[in-house]
Amino acid sequence: DWTAASFIETEIKAIREKVGKDKVICGLSGGVDSTVVATLIHEAIGDQLLCIFVDNGLLRKNEYENVLQTYKDHLHLPVKGIDASDLFLDNLKGVSDPEEKRKIIGNTFIDVFDKAIENEKEYKYLAQGTLYPDVIESVSFKGPSATIKSHHNVGGLPEKMNLDLIEPVSELFKDEVRNVGRELGIPEKFIGRHPFPGPGMGIRVLGELTREKLNLLREADDIFIQSLWDHELYHEVWQALAVLLPVQSVGVMGDERTYEYAVALRAVTSLDGMTADWAHLPYEFLAEVSNRIINEVRGVNRVVYDVSSKPPATIEWE
Ligand code: XMP
Repeated sequence: DWTAASFIETEIKAIREKVGKDKVICGLSGGVDSTVVATLIHEAIGDQLLCIFVDNGLLRKNEYENVLQTYKDHLHLPVKGIDASDLFLDNLKGVSDPEEKRKIIGNTFIDVFDKAIENEKEYKYLAQGTLYPDVIESVSFKGPSATIKSHHNVGGLPEKMNLDLIEPVSELFKDEVRNVGRELGIPEKFIGRHPFPGPGMGIRVLGELTREKLNLLREADDIFIQSLWDHELYHEVWQALAVLLPVQSVGVMGDERTYEYAVALRAVTSLDGMTADWAHLPYEFLAEVSNRIINEVRGVNRVVYDVSSKPPATIEWE
């Protein structure tokens, strides 16, 4: 029978055997999956592991600073933080197609990674937090036209990187990964975090990205997520997010007509992200979040709530 404890025991043995005296590099995303993978590998091989956490300019408000600190102070992982936000945003300039954005974000990530380990030739393995649903959504629908969404952390690496992949949780679902994380002693606050996509806010500002739009979305998103915590609703939903729509609409403030952006709020219940229902959040809660966003976020005059299920909609809008 599968238990988190037996999984850990087996994997630690397998990792030690596979890696030997070689070194492993692991990209941390701030999410549960990569954190569990890094902790598991750290447990197995200690200082032979180096983690890299990249600020791609597409993270949530204050996320880079907060998460980097958690990695260092609470999880004691050997981690190097790299602020590459300018590079990512420059590369994404003028791009509005979702799959094109994913491709650029994925490639830029590889470039940043490559550069980070340029002088560290002894690295032989790359560890990733790929989950089972990532594998089947990306890989079993072969061919670009049939791909639902290309999860950027799936699909192998360019030859030139010369690294072999280690993906210890690629046969697990999210809830199993969480149990493994708990068993490894990762704090509950971290384990319970909602999933957050690799391309981050890059696929939540619909269409072309600008720093201004990203900042605006960060503020709206922060109000939504903080409010979920404040009202003890955070754990009632599987994932929650704000989306900046590429439309402006007419509003009124005092005697003035406004013409500003609309924000969509999305919260879903789900078991594994493969199917999802929109979360039936209380009206009073939605009213409060809407008021706060419109009053506090300059440039937004309208908030809508997404009541679509997956399928046929997806969780993200891009
Ligand atoms: P969708 O939008 O496909 O999302 O219903 C299902 C889950 O996957 C996340 N997601 C991604 N994660 N890279 C990721 O690492 C991606 O490109 C990506 N696209 C979607 C999404 O947030 C949800 O949890």
